[in-house]
Amino acid sequence: MIDDCARKLVKKFSGSAPRYTSYPTAPNFSAEITDGVYSDWLQTLPPEAQLSIYAHIPFCDTLCWFCACRAQGTKIYPPVQRYLSFLMREIDQVAELLEGRKAVQMHWGGGSPTILEPTDFLALAAHFRSRLDFAPDADFDVEIDPRDMTSSKLDGVAAAGVTRASLGVQDFSPEVQHAVNRIQSFDTTKRVVDGLRERGVRRLNIDALYGLPKQTLERVERTIDLVIELAPDRVALFGYAHVPWMAKRQKLIDASSLPEGEERVEQAEAAAAKLRAAGYQRIGLDHFARPDDPMAIAATNGDLKRNFQGYTVDSAEALIGFGASAIGKLPQGYVQNVPATAAYQRRIEDSGFAIERGLKLSADDRMRGYVIERLMCDLTFDRNDLKAIFGERATTMIPIAEHLLRSLPQETISRTNGGFRVTETGRPFVRNIAAEFDAYLNQGARYSRAV
Ligand SMILES: C[S@@+](CC[C@H](N)C(=O)[O-])C[C@H]1O[C@@H](n2cnc3c(N)ncnc32)[C@H](O)[C@@H]1O
Ligand code: SF4
Repeated sequence: MIDDCARKLVKKFSGSAPRYTSYPTAPNFSAEITDGVYSDWLQTLPPEAQLSIYAHIPFCDTLCWFCACRAQGTKIYPPVQRYLSFLMREIDQVAELLEGRKAVQMHWGGGSPTILEPTDFLALAAHFRSRLDFAPDADFDVEIDPRDMTSSKLDGVAAAGVTRASLGVQDFSPEVQHAVNRIQSFDTTKRVVDGLRERGVRRLNIDALYGLPKQTLERVERTIDLVIELAPDRVALFGYAHVPWMAKRQKLIDASSLPEGEERVEQAEAAAAKLRAAGYQRIGLDHFARPDDPMAIAATNGDLKRNFQGYTVDSAEALIGFGASAIGKLPQGYVQNVPATAAYQRRIEDSGFAIERGLKLSADDRMRGYVIERLMCDLTFDRNDLKAIFGERATTMIPIAEHLLRSLPQETISRTNGGFRVTETGRPFVRNIAAEFDAYLNQGARYSRAV
């Protein structure tokens, strides 16, 4: 049970807030950023800039009703193969402008990259490696839907050189799985975990959710017990974001069966307590990692970063996104490809690029982005640090920090030499606290509830 103090906090922070996987957030991107701007930005990347690569595979064989990712269902394979041919064309076009830069990290997400047949999975990995210059120790992470995995797919993932796999679990209770159209047994998941480990893919992450329809405290706790049994290196424990105005498939979810604010916090905190007791380190808003995992080490050293996948240890200067809806981040700003698969394919056919929108970062954006990223990663605000990086401009942030220290309940925030630190009690509300530094809020964009 949560205490009275937590109950008051849930009431106070009951509004919505961005997840701050970027700042400014994607709803603030505009059509001013075009293919031409992207091409200029790519060409002016310093030769020594390191690259992180993201590829989006927007297909799943069945759709989960809770899902807010850019994904479409397909029962047939030819559309996936056709999409791959356009993805490869985009890689060819962009790679030409990136010659000489080293790629240090690759992440395939979706949708479900594991919808790819093994030959296509291997062909896409080989295409990336032939067009871009990967460091020998580059990480290669892939999002895996355990329900997709046959033993030949497991062989393909290992043969492609995948170094870390993220498996979607969400919740193991049949009642919850039924309510969100995602039937996935513990045995199926365990078979995939074991199969990956046997083939040398040893770094494993698991995604779990709280706040789903029909979820109760007991069901979340049982799911987390089973997740711990699988012994992943990292666990992402996301709060279900109910955003049916954006993700239309969520209209299939009975909103009356969703846990309310207090129940959500109770579920999240009970799951967190179990993970901590099992030896996981709590990281930022919603991640957990074994203390020897690079993410836990980065969090301890203040090197953790936030990007579109959530938390990351990736410190590359440029994130290059490929595929429909993919987002990239360059030193100059953000770019995003057109989301609809058909439109993406048409654009690639016409010009080899598919940028729909983006944002050129101003000096103010960079500074506020830094403050928000450090809050989301380290739960701290430090004016000395800020002044060292941004000079005089940093003084504009100090009144906001002082206002928070005066106005927030003292259980959530504590004064430090350089500013403040969000406490353990305040951790679930860090999005709301970060939002105080966001200059774009209240400009019409809608976000999910913060707690
Ligand atoms: C691309 S999927 C993971 C890979 C694979 N498609 C699967 O589901 O197993 C990314 C993750 O986003 C999370 N997610 C999707 N929709 C969400 C929502 N509405 N709120 C919070 N998390 C969500 C889920 O935990 C999911 O595992
Ligand atoms: S959660 Fe994964 S499998 Fe389910 S619809 Fe979303 S991307 Fe597809």
